[in-house]
Amino acid sequence: MNTLFNVYLQNHQRVFECPVTESVLKSGLRHGVAMHYDCSNGSCGTCEARLIKGEIKQIKHHDFVLTDKQMAKNTFLMCCNAPTTDIEVAVELIGDVKSIAIQEIDVKVKHIRLVNENMAILSLRTPRSKTLKFMAGQDVELSFNGKTHRYPVASCPCYGMDLEFHIRNREYDAFANEIFNGRLKDKAVVSLEGPKGIFVLKEQSIQRIVFIAWDGGFAPIRSLIEHAFSLEMSNPMHFYWAYPADEKAPYLDNHARSWEAVMDEYFYTAIACTFNRANKNDCHKVAKQIFDSLDIEVVNQADVYISAPAEVLIYLGELLLENGLDETQLIASPI
Ligand code: FES
Repeated sequence: MNTLFNVYLQNHQRVFECPVTESVLKSGLRHGVAMHYDCSNGSCGTCEARLIKGEIKQIKHHDFVLTDKQMAKNTFLMCCNAPTTDIEVAVELIGDVKSIAIQEIDVKVKHIRLVNENMAILSLRTPRSKTLKFMAGQDVELSFNGKTHRYPVASCPCYGMDLEFHIRNREYDAFANEIFNGRLKDKAVVSLEGPKGIFVLKEQSIQRIVFIAWDGGFAPIRSLIEHAFSLEMSNPMHFYWAYPADEKAPYLDNHARSWEAVMDEYFYTAIACTFNRANKNDCHKVAKQIFDSLDIEVVNQADVYISAPAEVLIYLGELLLENGLDETQLIASPI
């Protein structure tokens, strides 16, 4: 039987369940706890924590040597130990984006899936010993063949080794062109630099949450929503996903809809927007169509996260602020 024990995090008012067979680190990350780590295999010492109460057992060998002083303080490596009773642990967590260093990692293309003729889902894998530390909603820069572009990570930080990106084929995006011209293929090596950006979840907020995405702006929103699920946040969530009306539905419509089965108070609305792709001023038109589809009473009581092109963001932000939203409620990121 895989017995579960509670792991209490001293001074953080957090507790999560950890199976007797799983490392405290792996389980914590799965529950959305922003723990510091690097190698995940006992070599770097970054995941150190102190055992305050209870008992643990080592489940993995570690090369990193703890000093006598650390041992005397009950320091242990979270990636190599599992609880054998309920435990209380003193650990420093990642408090904000500033406490995560920029990382440079060579990652491998695991898979490229075209969801339609000009939207690709790019799956990348980091080396096991060098996973990406980031917060849900953040971006990274990807480079291949000298072509670089910045994209939001679409996956949850609990899977720092498997990273997903949603990439639209746009003329000005030279990295995307490498994908759609077939030059970037499975197993190719891509350079990654990041994380960057401050579009992250207010984890302590008890407010209702409204997420608004335009098309590929779904990527960081997906990361935020899945992170909120791992944290078991019970805030009611509304997701409005605007997409070009000349496509039948948002490109991962079923995925966004499937969350309705996971959470009682999750409400999803897809918004088909008509606009002329050749006319940049149509951003006004898109912003207005999104605004007209929102339940403004709900929006005005919520933390509102918007991920959309800068022009749409500006107009939509103005409309929201003119109609009762306070600017402290607005968290926005251009794509
Ligand atoms: S993460 Fe490197 S030792 Fe645990």
